[in-house]
Amino acid sequence: MTQDAQPTNPISGRMFERASAVLPAGVGSSARSVRAGWAPYPPFIAQGTGSRVTDADGHEYVDYLLGLGPMLLGHRNAEVTDAVIRAISERGTVFGLPHELEAEAAEKVCAAVPSLDMVRFANSGSEAVGTAVRLARTFTGRNKVLRFEGMYHGWMDTVYWSNHPKLELAGPDDAPVPVPAGKGMAPHVGDSLVIAQWNDVAALERALEANAGEIAAIITEPMMLNTGCIMPVDGYLAAMRDLATKHGAVLIFDEVITGFRLARGGGQERFGVLPDLTTMAKGIGGGFPVAAVGGRREIMELVADGRYSHSGTYNSNVMATAAVSATMDILARPGTYEALDRHGAMLLDGYREIATRHGVAHEVQGVGPVGQIWFTDAPIRTYRDAARHARPDVFTAWWREMMARGVLFHPSQDENLFVSTAHSDDDIAFTLEAADASVRAIVAAGLA
Ligand SMILES: Cc1ncc(COP(=O)(O)O)c(C=O)c1O
Repeated sequence: MTQDAQPTNPISGRMFERASAVLPAGVGSSARSVRAGWAPYPPFIAQGTGSRVTDADGHEYVDYLLGLGPMLLGHRNAEVTDAVIRAISERGTVFGLPHELEAEAAEKVCAAVPSLDMVRFANSGSEAVGTAVRLARTFTGRNKVLRFEGMYHGWMDTVYWSNHPKLELAGPDDAPVPVPAGKGMAPHVGDSLVIAQWNDVAALERALEANAGEIAAIITEPMMLNTGCIMPVDGYLAAMRDLATKHGAVLIFDEVITGFRLARGGGQERFGVLPDLTTMAKGIGGGFPVAAVGGRREIMELVADGRYSHSGTYNSNVMATAAVSATMDILARPGTYEALDRHGAMLLDGYREIATRHGVAHEVQGVGPVGQIWFTDAPIRTYRDAARHARPDVFTAWWREMMARGVLFHPSQDENLFVSTAHSDDDIAFTLEAADASVRAIVAAGLA
C-alpha cells in the first residue's frame, strides 16, 4: 500500500470503486474508511488464515489488526469454525426460544470472568454497553453517567460523546464538557453525561462530588484502548472502585477489547479490580459476532423481574453461543495466556528497542497481547496528552512503510496492535525486521 502513481494494489482499487457506488464510503464501518486513514483506499481482503491475511492483489500480511480485535484465536480457528458448523447442521440458527447451548456458553463465561454471577448475550459491544448503562440506571434510580474523555464505548447515543473531541470544544482540562462524537444525537443526552479526565483520581473525586447522589454509573475500559494504548497509573482502578462504592455508582468495566485478552478473566483479573457490571465482545466469540453483558446477580436480576427488559431477536443465537462455548474451552487451556503474553512482549519490547536505537522519540505502552507505539517526546497518560503530544504524521509514515513490508495494522495511532494465539516467533521476528527497516526509512526521509 503506497500512494505511488502506480498503485501496488489495483484490484483493491477496482473493488473500492465498485463498492463506493453502493456502500457509503465504500466500506461497512467508518473505521475502515479513507477518512479513518486507509488512504488512498483500504486493501480488500481475500482471505485470512491464522496470523495472516492476504489481500485481493495477493499481498500477504502478518495481521495485527485482527478484525479490530475479535480474531484473538487468529483467522478461521478450526475448532471454533467446526463447532459453529456442527451446531448449525445439527440444530439450526435462530429459534426465538431458548436452547441448550445458551446456558452452556453462559456457564463458561461466568466461570472465566471473576465478577460475573450472570450474563446475557448480545450481538455487538455497543448493544452490551447500552444494556449495561440502562441496568445501572434501573438499579440506582439515578440518571447520570460518568465517562472519560478519549474512551470509545460504541455508538449508542448514551455514550457516544467525547471520544476524541477537538480540544477547543472540550472545555478546560479540569472541567471537560460533553462533546457529541457525531451528528444525529439528541443534544439533551449530553446533560446526562459527566466527563472526566482518565488516570486522575482527584479529577474523578471532584466530578463525583459535584454530582453527588446523581451518578448511576462510571464506565471505563480497564486500560484506555481507544486512544491508542494508555495504561492505568498505579492504584487508579482500585481508587475508582472505592470511589464508585462510596458514591453508590455502578462501576461498569467495558471489557469489549480487554475481555479474555489481558487474561482469561480480562482486565479485571489482570489488574485485580472487580466491577459491578462488565461488557464483553471482541474476544468472546473466536471471531464470530457476539457480545455479552454480565455482573452481580442483584443487578442482572433486574432483567428477570422485568424492571429492565433486555431484548434482541438474534441474542444467544446458535452460531454465537456455539462460538462462545468453543472459544471458552480453548482459552481455558494451560499455556494460552503465557504464549499471548510472550509474543506481545516480544513485539512491544522489540519496537522499544528499534525506536530507541534509531533515536526516534516514542513511548510504547501495552500489556499482554495488546499495545501501541506512540511517537511522542512527552509521556501519554490521558487523551489530552495524546491530542497535544502524539505525532500522527510520524505514525502515518511508519504505517505506510510497515504495510509495504507486509505488516498490517490500523493507520490510526488511536487504534491498537493485537497479537493472537496464532502468532508465532517467526511472525514476530518478521515484523521486527520490517519495523527496523521502516524506522530506518522514515528517519532517512526526514519524517521522524
Ligand atoms: C471498548 C469498546 N467498547 C465498545 C465497543 C463497541 O463494540 P461494537 O463495535 O461491537 O459495537 C468498542 C468497539 O471498538 C470498544 O472498543
